Amino acid sequence: MPATHHLLLCPSSAPIPLSLLGLEMSAAVGSFTALVPQPATRRRVAWATRCSVAGSVAAASPILKNLHLKCATPLPVLRHIADAMAADMRAGLAADGASDLKMILSYVDSLPTGNEKGLFYALDLGGTNFRVLRVQLGGKDNRVVDTEFEQVSIPQELMHGSTEELFDFIASGLARFVAKEGEKFRLPQGRKREIGFTFSFPVKQTSIDSGILIKWTKGFAVSGTAGKDVVACLNEALKRQGMDMRVSALVNDAVGTLAGARYWDDDVMVAVILGTGTNACYIEHMDAIPKLQDLTTGSGKTIINTEWGAFSTGLPLTEFDKDMDKESINPGEQIFEKTISGMYLGEIVRRVLLKMAEVSALFGDYVPDKLSVPFVLRTPDLCAMHQDDSEDLEAVDLILNDTVGVTRSSPDARKIVAEVCDTIVKRGGRLAGAGIVGILQKMEQDSKGLIFGKRTVVAMDGGLYEHYPQYRKYLKESVTELLGSEASKNVIIEHTKDGSGIGAALLAAINSKYSTEV
Ligand code: BGC
Repeated sequence: MPATHHLLLCPSSAPIPLSLLGLEMSAAVGSFTALVPQPATRRRVAWATRCSVAGSVAAASPILKNLHLKCATPLPVLRHIADAMAADMRAGLAADGASDLKMILSYVDSLPTGNEKGLFYALDLGGTNFRVLRVQLGGKDNRVVDTEFEQVSIPQELMHGSTEELFDFIASGLARFVAKEGEKFRLPQGRKREIGFTFSFPVKQTSIDSGILIKWTKGFAVSGTAGKDVVACLNEALKRQGMDMRVSALVNDAVGTLAGARYWDDDVMVAVILGTGTNACYIEHMDAIPKLQDLTTGSGKTIINTEWGAFSTGLPLTEFDKDMDKESINPGEQIFEKTISGMYLGEIVRRVLLKMAEVSALFGDYVPDKLSVPFVLRTPDLCAMHQDDSEDLEAVDLILNDTVGVTRSSPDARKIVAEVCDTIVKRGGRLAGAGIVGILQKMEQDSKGLIFGKRTVVAMDGGLYEHYPQYRKYLKESVTELLGSEASKNVIIEHTKDGSGIGAALLAAINSKYSTEV
């Protein structure tokens, strides 16, 4: 191999840097968000002393065959998943605890109209990064007059630290950002700055501006937050920073995405997040929520946060999924999320490759040490390998070397690796598509013709969907297979990048303490 180890050779032999393919990864597990330079040299690896059962690469074939079988998602399986999603939604709307799906009331009953005006902030804590944003809203004619944002990655230790440490970190980031507010942003005299707080974890909302964290997901294990009102935690931290701001709306990222997309398009009915984690929300009629019959809203509608990451009915799972779940920090929970979202796809593939390397000579006679490190292979790595259409899969070779320390891989071994990636990603994308159809199906059953009989938009956000073309393709294919070509023409899956920030600010505007004064 020549010295240009981080380059992929194209057929004309002109080297293509992987970065040009948009395939480099951020440091965070499964996150596609930031592009960081990768070392240009091929690292030497330490071989494990443990010997694998010597054999040919072909000995990996039965594992691959079995994987194909177990991960298969033919139409009847997709149908079953879509139906189960719809049924679990109904059960979750009927009573708390009756379904994997929590079907949480968002307390959002007015959606943005375009008339919102003023300066609002949004604070977004959802995964590996947190973002702060300010937006000057100009009403119907001027819409978003100006917006600025900053993004900070969350140090790994804070994801396992104390509640105060995490919220102090967020509040101090917000304080620094507010201090940079320029003159183009205008806050009327005598008003506090108001925030829409996007908190992308399962929260039992108690009002539009308060809610109790049910549990952490996506690898967060911050002590002392579960069971607490996260707005109160933020307010205390803001106070410690000496900041006088008001949280006007607490929203899930899916809910923020729906609100943000609806600002521009009245046909948006559903929002889905496919990133580090996954979730979906949709617009529901209050009278279709038996567990909330005592509540009424002006519009008669609300947004329901399904928390579909917890869905589990009928999923085609393998021993690799089951082992990953058992060893996770939340065993038995978030099974759909663990099957389809960015945090986990790379880890499932790593587990398959490890098993293959142990029972065959997939990577030679030894199992590379790094292949045994949980989460070392990330979904952006899979994505990069998946884009390699060179005959000898040279990018696959490089990525295997860089990420799991495979010093030599034969073209046959690389093909097997590429197939494993494809199998896991295909299953994920197709199941996500079936989940979306399940939600639409439930809505259509309740309001005949109002979903499939007209243009219906599913607002989509998240790095997995945005950056993984094959995943996107599989998802869309599954939606079309399930709905048929006619109905699926009316269903538009629209990527609304970072819509949840503006959405949260809009919801802060709608629920502003000063709203009657605007
Ligand atoms: C959380 C959801 C969130 C989703 C996407 C999941 O792990 O439970 O609340 O919306 O990730 O960020």
